[in-house]
Amino acid sequence: MTTMQAAPTGPIFDKGLANTIAAETQMSFIDGGKGVLEYVGIDIDALARNSTYEETVYLLWNCRLPKQHELDALKSALQAEYEIPDAIYDMIKSFPRDAVPMHALRTLVSALALHDADAESSETTPSGIESAKRQALRLVAKTPTLIANFDRHRAGKPFVRPDKSFDIATNFLWMLNGEKPTEAMARGLDICLILHADHGLNASTFAARVTIATLSDMYSAMTTAVGTLKGPLHGGANEEVMIMLDEIGSMENVEPFVKGKLERKELIMGFGHRVYKAYDPRATYLKTFAKQIATDTGNLRLFEMSQKIEGIVLAAKADKGIFPNVDFYSATTYHCLGIKTDLFTCMFAMSRMSGWAGHCIEQLQDNRLIRPQAKYNGPHAAPYVAMAQR
Ligand code: SDX
Repeated sequence: MTTMQAAPTGPIFDKGLANTIAAETQMSFIDGGKGVLEYVGIDIDALARNSTYEETVYLLWNCRLPKQHELDALKSALQAEYEIPDAIYDMIKSFPRDAVPMHALRTLVSALALHDADAESSETTPSGIESAKRQALRLVAKTPTLIANFDRHRAGKPFVRPDKSFDIATNFLWMLNGEKPTEAMARGLDICLILHADHGLNASTFAARVTIATLSDMYSAMTTAVGTLKGPLHGGANEEVMIMLDEIGSMENVEPFVKGKLERKELIMGFGHRVYKAYDPRATYLKTFAKQIATDTGNLRLFEMSQKIEGIVLAAKADKGIFPNVDFYSATTYHCLGIKTDLFTCMFAMSRMSGWAGHCIEQLQDNRLIRPQAKYNGPHAAPYVAMAQR
């Protein structure tokens, strides 16, 4: 468009909505050029070092840090909701043991609605919003129980019921492994949950907002979000990173493998981002953390391979703004925490449930149906041709 032409006054076609602001939020701020992420103004690095997931959930949902009694009250409310109905355990038993975990999680999140009397209310009234907050709390509290016990089922192991004396990270690892985790392991997961909790209007969050904006219910919105996160261009990338590391297998294979993919113009999973054109600050923290936990667990080779991959990709693509994103070093971290590769995206969903729900509550507080237009490029004035003439 030359400077002489008037700016378009009608709808603009913004493929992928990269240049469109579709909502307002107070929860997370991203400066993609500088690689900055803040939750309610607090830098993500400070939160990862000092906060807990439960405190981060409070921060995102209340737009301020809690006082001790407020945090204690939230933790107790979450613990009171860890357990899932027996009918859901029975449902898990009916799943094929080779079911894709994100299919299982999407199905179970949806099924929770059948057991929540609040599930049918998502009005924009104060009582409707209070109901949405209750549903949000139940979803954040129960998702770890769903994931851990699906994994127990597929391994042919007995279910492990949640322990209401544990925090979310400890409780998840307790149910997953049937034994209380070390403090280091529990803290490692807690940090991952903090880092993945919210991230502006990413694809799955936007999908959740579209759903709740119709005044559908929180469970439907979370089901939408889980399904959207599953994709390898989004939350599924962390699993693909681990698969790539396993495929490479050794330091010697890193260079030929990565350079081959780049030459074939194939995507290197865990790199690039729609918003960050600098280092993803979550990757910055996770890189340091991954090195420590890889060292502590005898997996330093994985970290060193990752570092070599990063060096090759940055040399080839930094000019295009391609840097490691949150998924690149979270893969090594989750692996070192003993999480199976095909559960990595479920871990992402476990954390992001808080961000998704927070955005849904923000949407209800200032709702307008989200309904963009499509650019029609089909025919016009076409005749209806009778079957005999076709
Ligand atoms: C998450 O949005 C969020 O906030 C998401 C997230 C969150 O917290 O919710 O941060 C979580 O989803 C992180 C992203 C995880 N996905 C991956 O790691 C998959 C690999 N990354 C790419 O698919 C890609 O980077 C996207 C999808 C993430 C972003 O792509 P864009 O913004 O649509 O950019 P693009 O595909 O148009 O790429 C621009 C150029 C292209 O080259 P050219 O065609 O211009 O020559 O950069 C290249 C791309 O080929 N490129 C890559 C690359 N990512 C982009 N080349 C190699 N490897 C990559 N990973």
